[in-house]
Amino acid sequence: ENEFSLRPRKLSEYIGQKKVKETLSIFIEAAKKRNEALDHVLLFGPPGLGKTTLATIIANELEVNIKVTSGPAIERPGDLAALLTNLGEKDVLFIDEIHRLPRIVEEVLYSAMEDYALDVMLGKGPGARSLRLNLPKFTLVGATTRAGLLTSPLRDRFGLVHRLEFYTVEELMLIINRSAALLRVEITPEGSEEIAKRSRGTPRIANRLLKRVRDYAEVRGKGIITKEIAQAALNLLEIDELGLDPTDRLILKTMIEKYQGGPVGIEALSASLAEETTTIEDVYEPFLLQIGFIKRTPRGRIVTKLAYEHLGIPYNKNEAEQT
Ligand code: ADE
Repeated sequence: ENEFSLRPRKLSEYIGQKKVKETLSIFIEAAKKRNEALDHVLLFGPPGLGKTTLATIIANELEVNIKVTSGPAIERPGDLAALLTNLGEKDVLFIDEIHRLPRIVEEVLYSAMEDYALDVMLGKGPGARSLRLNLPKFTLVGATTRAGLLTSPLRDRFGLVHRLEFYTVEELMLIINRSAALLRVEITPEGSEEIAKRSRGTPRIANRLLKRVRDYAEVRGKGIITKEIAQAALNLLEIDELGLDPTDRLILKTMIEKYQGGPVGIEALSASLAEETTTIEDVYEPFLLQIGFIKRTPRGRIVTKLAYEHLGIPYNKNEAEQT
């Protein structure tokens, strides 16, 4: 029962992301009809929204094999060459965190994506020769947290570019109910809703919380996930009614207490929190922005009145100061 077993394997089982599903299903069908490789696909969006899941579904629907790797794992052009030359015709290569590919590797990837060819140098100095290796036609599925992190030559080589959106509470409830059935745990609609509301629009978090609530239900309850059990378990985990965890609240409180609610630059905030800037930007900020608790301004991030109210901290700025 690992997380992998909760993942849907077909587009029809995949909940939410309607637009992405519709588009992909059309282009997958077209590629299959022509017996061609699907165009390269770029998926971007905050962590946990199902980029890896979609990549595996794309391969399943295409009825091809998938190789999974990540940007930082491909250190040299030779590593990429080894992956590409081992692909079968029309296979999928999934590169997670593709924005972290070393530049020398990225440059080799251009011709691989465009011409299904690899240019390798043999030898050094005056005797050096370049050799062109033909590759199988393949589909690159790249995933990144923000499309803006990619260089434009790389971004331009993807035929399909999709942003994954946060899920609604209703969609998360469907995902939680599906996962609960797979985990064979009984859950009431109110229990499901309670977990969904506290999952920050993110299926990965919903599934993680579901497992923790199930543990709680088995030890402290009758094994059934009710609203009361879900609330007690999530309160114990310090996940509040909106799904904010201790780190989210620490970020907001630091901005309020050390920076008077901002504007504060990401570097200063990162230093105060001893947290990587990329973790703040990619993991915490997107949801805080989405629920309107922080805003980005040219001079830095600011905490909104809404967030003060949620934290129970008096708000004593006038709206005009929120530039
Ligand atoms: N599990 C994780 N993400 C999912 C999704 N989008 N649909 C169904 N199950 C999921």
